Amino acid sequence: MASVSLKGIVKHYDKTPVIHGVDLDIADGEFMVFVGPSGCGKSTLLRMIAGLETISAGTLHIGGALANDIAPAQRQLAMVFQSYALYPHMTVYENMAFALKLAGRKPAEVQAAVERAAAILQITPLLKRKPKELSGGQRQRVAIGRAIVRKPEVFLFDEPLSNLDASLRVQMRVEISRLHSELKTTMIYVTHDQVEAMTLGQRIAVFNGGRIEQVGTPHELYNAPANLFVAGFLGTPKMNFIPGEVTSVDEHRVTVRLHGAGGHGRHVVQVDSAPAAHGLRAGDQVTLGVRAEHLSIAAPQQHDNVIQIGVGHVEYLGDQSIVYTTLDGLPGMIAVKLPAEAVPPHAGSRARVHLPPARCLLFDSSGQAVRRNTVEFGVSADFV
Ligand SMILES: Nc1ncnc2c1ncn2[C@@H]1O[C@H](COP(=O)(O)OP(=O)(O)OP(=O)(O)O)[C@@H](O)[C@H]1O
Ligand SMILES: [Mg+2]
Repeated sequence: MASVSLKGIVKHYDKTPVIHGVDLDIADGEFMVFVGPSGCGKSTLLRMIAGLETISAGTLHIGGALANDIAPAQRQLAMVFQSYALYPHMTVYENMAFALKLAGRKPAEVQAAVERAAAILQITPLLKRKPKELSGGQRQRVAIGRAIVRKPEVFLFDEPLSNLDASLRVQMRVEISRLHSELKTTMIYVTHDQVEAMTLGQRIAVFNGGRIEQVGTPHELYNAPANLFVAGFLGTPKMNFIPGEVTSVDEHRVTVRLHGAGGHGRHVVQVDSAPAAHGLRAGDQVTLGVRAEHLSIAAPQQHDNVIQIGVGHVEYLGDQSIVYTTLDGLPGMIAVKLPAEAVPPHAGSRARVHLPPARCLLFDSSGQAVRRNTVEFGVSADFV
């Protein structure tokens, strides 16, 4: 097991920069996930850690030792890719034993390592088969087994589950989590799937355009995103963003008028927050962010914190319904997640939606989350 530390890591291909200076400390034994959209540099950074790409600038430490110029084979890492790349003419046993045999280990030692890895991955009955006689999930387990037998200091995974169907992905996700708690080895796991990121990572680094936007636990990223990118990237459906303008700021409160609402800006939202904590001023453009599961259809007697919306289509998902709505005068949809037992409003009707005071976030015009000095975050919205 080893820690991995990145300082000012830069990568460019010829003159094209793709990683713009990444700082990240991954603790010994930690499960770290790199997540972000396609092309944001996740694989490039992982390959730099593995030694498969050169580092243009910055320092990489593995287990406290400078590793920039250490050959890949000497880094004590094992990498598992999306493509399993098993040797087709070898059995599962031979595939898993190959690296150890090549390293000149004794036959008894090789056998013990393969059998232990096979037991952990529950593939002992498959050891005599060839890869073509295995399902996708079983092949992926063999690929992980090949990595385990080497007892690496750090496991590097690059989208290892992308080729599997949805139910097998869920099953393998659970197995990889179990593997981590059993082996306690440092793992760095690349994915563009936010559900994989949320369920596997002890911490997640969210990448965007060759930079890290935020690093934190799944809980921190979901509940206290640093900016609009992170807020919009994690969560299904996406967090709702409603643009507005700060109309006044006093000692305790920021008042925001939401745009749209028939073009007259009738929805006024008041946010309790001391001005020193956010630096907002009257006239500033802001974005209010609120997740679909925190919105609800307002009861008839409920008037505070309520906005009026038009109901678009309704998705019934069995355990819940998602109602897609619009705020008059605004492009885009506002998604409202309702529990299964709630009767969703009819498509084409009007409905009143409640914004819960403690669950609304504010982002400034540059997209950064407005820091609040109070956890309580009072919102009152009314339409006149
Ligand atoms: N050998 C290369 N030469 C030039 N540019 C490259 C090379 N390899 C990758 N890139 C560029 O670097 C950027 C980051 O690529 P990378 O493969 O790290 O993305 P990723 O985050 O892993 O995306 P995905 O989710 O699609 O796998 C992309 O814009 C890509 O086009
Ligand atoms: Mg990639």
